Amino acid sequence: MRSLSGNVGGLDLQIPVILAAGILGTTGASLRRAALAGAGAVVTKSVGLLPRDGHPGPTVVVLEDGLINAMGLPNPSFRGFQEEIDVGRTGPAPVVASIFGSGSEEFAEVARSLKADAFELNLSCPHAEGLGAEIGCQPDNVEQITRAVKRSVDVPVWVKLTPNVSDIRALGLAAQEGGADAVVAINTLRAMAIDIQSGYPILGNSFGGLSGPAIKPVAVKAVYDLSGVLEIPVIGVGGISDWQDAVEMMMAGASAVQVGTALMGGYGVFQEIARGIASHLDRKGWTMEELVGLARRRVA
Ligand code: SIN
Repeated sequence: MRSLSGNVGGLDLQIPVILAAGILGTTGASLRRAALAGAGAVVTKSVGLLPRDGHPGPTVVVLEDGLINAMGLPNPSFRGFQEEIDVGRTGPAPVVASIFGSGSEEFAEVARSLKADAFELNLSCPHAEGLGAEIGCQPDNVEQITRAVKRSVDVPVWVKLTPNVSDIRALGLAAQEGGADAVVAINTLRAMAIDIQSGYPILGNSFGGLSGPAIKPVAVKAVYDLSGVLEIPVIGVGGISDWQDAVEMMMAGASAVQVGTALMGGYGVFQEIARGIASHLDRKGWTMEELVGLARRRVA
């Protein structure tokens, strides 16, 4: 397989296919397993300053082409999580700690207190009061929080953006202004499902965030828009199930992709996607540089 290794957002990746936050990133053992299976990097479940139980169940609704979750950022706090990161870091891929907070100080404190290869700022969870997208939909907050974390750590900082805004480019530009090394697009779309027998919302939190194949076209457009205005790399996430999806996301402008729901098919998905990208490049006679952002150049 031709080499797809390169530096994306300040991290050296063997392949540009990364384990997305929240999927198998709860324990060090599962992070390490994903790394050993060949993931380019692995992102943890989001952790914050204090332990949180999360929302009451049900927390997940499975749909035909995706799922809605309303986990509510359950986590043991950063204090209980460093040892999981340490186990994950015994694997062969960089470990990116996904962190959340209620503002600059909390984000900076969590980041300062953790040792990881990079941080991903969760400014995009759509269903946690006072956290995630509730603060991350304001460009000023995104810029301030990114700057505060950048000043507190000496490793790369990625910012995961919410698509639940009228123009995601403003958030990307704010992250870049705050010193982000990359943006990650997109987190889940606000969504709801209702039981038609009882009339009750199915999720304990009433609403949640939609992920999976249903949101891929939204993610492709967000990546396309962001890569058109940013100088820092865009990492694409949202509904990537196979190498064709990854190639499409890269043509939209993603320098790397994250996979989540596709892990249901097993840990082999990282290398399968990488092999598919490499074979497609060989067939077409393209380099990675030629692939990334090709759609924009096609219509220029
Ligand atoms: C959660 O843990 O509540 C999901 C995280 C997210 O949507 O960012």
